[in-house]
Amino acid sequence: MTKNIGNYARHAQYWDWSGYDRTEEHEYWLKYAAKYGKNVLIPMCALGETGAYLAERGMTVTAFDITPEMIEEGKKRFADVPGLQLQVADVCNFHFEIEPVDFCYSTDFGHLLTREEIKKALVSIAKHMRLGGCLVIETRLRIFGEESSYSPLQKFHPLSQNYPGIKVWKTGQTRYEAETGRTYISQTFYAQDAKGQTDSFEHAFYLQSYYREEWLEAFKECGYQLVGEYSSRDVSSWQSGDSFRIFEIVKSDS
Ligand SMILES: C[S@@+](CC[C@H](N)C(=O)[O-])C[C@H]1O[C@@H](n2cnc3c(N)ncnc32)[C@H](O)[C@@H]1O
Repeated sequence: MTKNIGNYARHAQYWDWSGYDRTEEHEYWLKYAAKYGKNVLIPMCALGETGAYLAERGMTVTAFDITPEMIEEGKKRFADVPGLQLQVADVCNFHFEIEPVDFCYSTDFGHLLTREEIKKALVSIAKHMRLGGCLVIETRLRIFGEESSYSPLQKFHPLSQNYPGIKVWKTGQTRYEAETGRTYISQTFYAQDAKGQTDSFEHAFYLQSYYREEWLEAFKECGYQLVGEYSSRDVSSWQSGDSFRIFEIVKSDS
């Protein structure tokens, strides 16, 4: 497992560092899943926080991540949640003995840096899904004619400090490269103990965006039908030029 995804391994123990209440986001996914059924698959789940929320409300959830440290930390927090299974696996090639999946979502396909990887992930997910089961992908979209951009180094503080005796913060800069459709994110995470000793680590990676046409072609090739397309969680349509996209697709071939 040597994919170039940055340092999620070191980030795992501090993944819930931001102090933000994620209830609204969890509720969004709970309602979305409920439209399709109770068997839920969550790839690239990090600690599995959303999976735990859904399982606590009656869903049967398999959540998985390629970074073993993330799953280890997730198990520390959510081992007692009935109906939640946390696994280490690669979304591009996984096999679980589970009930056919009704609903699956990911906001993190940007980590899949080639169209081949995207297709492998779509196929692996489809193998676990019932006909008519739904996959929702939230992604940055690559747009023809867009320009490169750069967000300079900024410092980020949590809304409230989450870890007893440890103060945490992050710095980060972002560069979007129009010629490749890749966003380069470079961050440093800091954790300072009560004695003032500061530990830090780098977390740098690329996220790939794809043209709308590339997504549509991949969906078709991998046996899915597009049933919804939105440019925000609140708005029920999209316009060309929007660079954020939610694709709602259903498995249409066995
Ligand atoms: C931004 S984090 C996900 C955050 C998560 N959606 C949440 O709700 O907290 C991206 C995660 O994707 C995982 N990941 C990256 N490539 C992966 C792959 N090929 N298969 C499975 N997980 C992967 C990383 O280990 C990391 O935990």
